[in-house]
Amino acid sequence: MSRESPHRPAVLFVCLGNICRSPLAKAAFRAEAEKAGLDVEVDSAGTAHWHVGEPPDRRARAEAQRRGVDISGYRARQVTADDFRRFSHIVALDIENHSALRALRPRDATAELSLLLDHVDGRAGQGVADPYFGDDAGFAVTWDEVSAGARGLIRRLAAG
Ligand code: 4NP
Repeated sequence: MSRESPHRPAVLFVCLGNICRSPLAKAAFRAEAEKAGLDVEVDSAGTAHWHVGEPPDRRARAEAQRRGVDISGYRARQVTADDFRRFSHIVALDIENHSALRALRPRDATAELSLLLDHVDGRAGQGVADPYFGDDAGFAVTWDEVSAGARGLIRRLAAG
């Protein structure tokens, strides 16, 4: 992927379970990149292994569908140290996962690590709330937050 085309951004979104927030971030980022005409590689992963191989949470799938995106084919995976060499940007959904990623980051990492909402004016340092233990309405908030983050990150990438 990024090795074949070194100037094409390759972005990995990372949350805890990889079944709620980061699959939505991936879907929103892909949609926003298409709108902006930006050629990007995008994937998502979790810092925890609990849901590896599972499709996104039913409520995340439903929210994506409401926003016109089908994420039902996605399967959860756990982030690896190699991701820090394969991707140009690794974007944590919250502070806890940002800390976990800093601990995992290998010495020869080439990926730039950031927090998603650092790309949104007025939201620097904040995390995207975990909707997993809440109700369905939380997923609409998640979509709005990851979309705002995606737009901010795309503006940065487009600016070079
Ligand atoms: P995510 O949400 O990190 O946005 O995918 C969660 C999914 C599962 C769990 C926690 C958060 N869990 O405890 O299993």
